[in-house]
Amino acid sequence: MTTATMALPLLGLRITAGPLELRGITDDLLGPLADLAIEGIHAPDAMPFFMPWTLAPAEELPRNTAQFYWGRRAAFSVAAWAADLAVFWEGELAGTQGMEALDYLVTRTAETGSWLGRRFQGRGIGTAMRQVVCAFAFDHLDAEYMTSAAFSDNPASLAVSKKVGYTDSGWQRMARLGKPATQRRLVLTADSLVRHGHELTIEGLPEFRQSIGLAAD
Ligand SMILES: CC(C)(COP(=O)(O)OP(=O)(O)OC[C@H]1O[C@@H](n2cnc3c(N)ncnc32)[C@H](O)[C@@H]1OP(=O)(O)O)[C@@H](O)C(=O)NCCC(=O)NCCS
Repeated sequence: MTTATMALPLLGLRITAGPLELRGITDDLLGPLADLAIEGIHAPDAMPFFMPWTLAPAEELPRNTAQFYWGRRAAFSVAAWAADLAVFWEGELAGTQGMEALDYLVTRTAETGSWLGRRFQGRGIGTAMRQVVCAFAFDHLDAEYMTSAAFSDNPASLAVSKKVGYTDSGWQRMARLGKPATQRRLVLTADSLVRHGHELTIEGLPEFRQSIGLAAD
């Protein structure tokens, strides 16, 4: 019988490294992710996201969260894919780590994006999950570059990028909540990656590779 994971292998992807597990966002995780967002991701006077989705009233976040991930799944293609992964730390859901790419078979470049519930921040989890997703992309998806972007007033994200080995690749002036803001851009190559201490164990790799247009192995 054909399953949802056969239709979208991202749903069956599981990457484990010590206490960290990254897992395709299946429907059962959408409610718990919304709960984490409702508990809070950032200080009320900060806005780390380009799309200020965390400003929505709490009662709208369950539907917004589900629709966001459903939309990304619906739009998944070889030419434009997004791999959103739930982050578990010591078995507890802590946030998400994603990467997305346009024309990946040509560019071999993917951009990361992530968030953690506030109670999980500042414990090294953000660094570990970025190290793991970048190692996964370089070692198992044939990536050549990983990119990231963060507003200049997001020291935690910029610190993670620096610790993981990214270097500055420019900046962009953007509109954020109607005011100008500077977004800094960063780039990483395999040679510069500061690796996580644990080996990666991966489930669902051949199927995921094929879903983004790569050979199964
Ligand atoms: C960005 C984020 C994923 C990082 O995860 P994290 O688990 O908090 O990060 P870590 O604990 O691994 O590391 C954070 C680093 O930032 C540093 N940092 C945090 N706040 C800082 C500040 N105000 N000034 C300077 N450095 C700061 C920490 O000192 C730490 O570096 P260190 O280990 O060398 O001390 C997380 O903070 C988060 O979800 N933030 C809200 C959402 C967000 O900003 N997403 C990214 C959008 S681009």
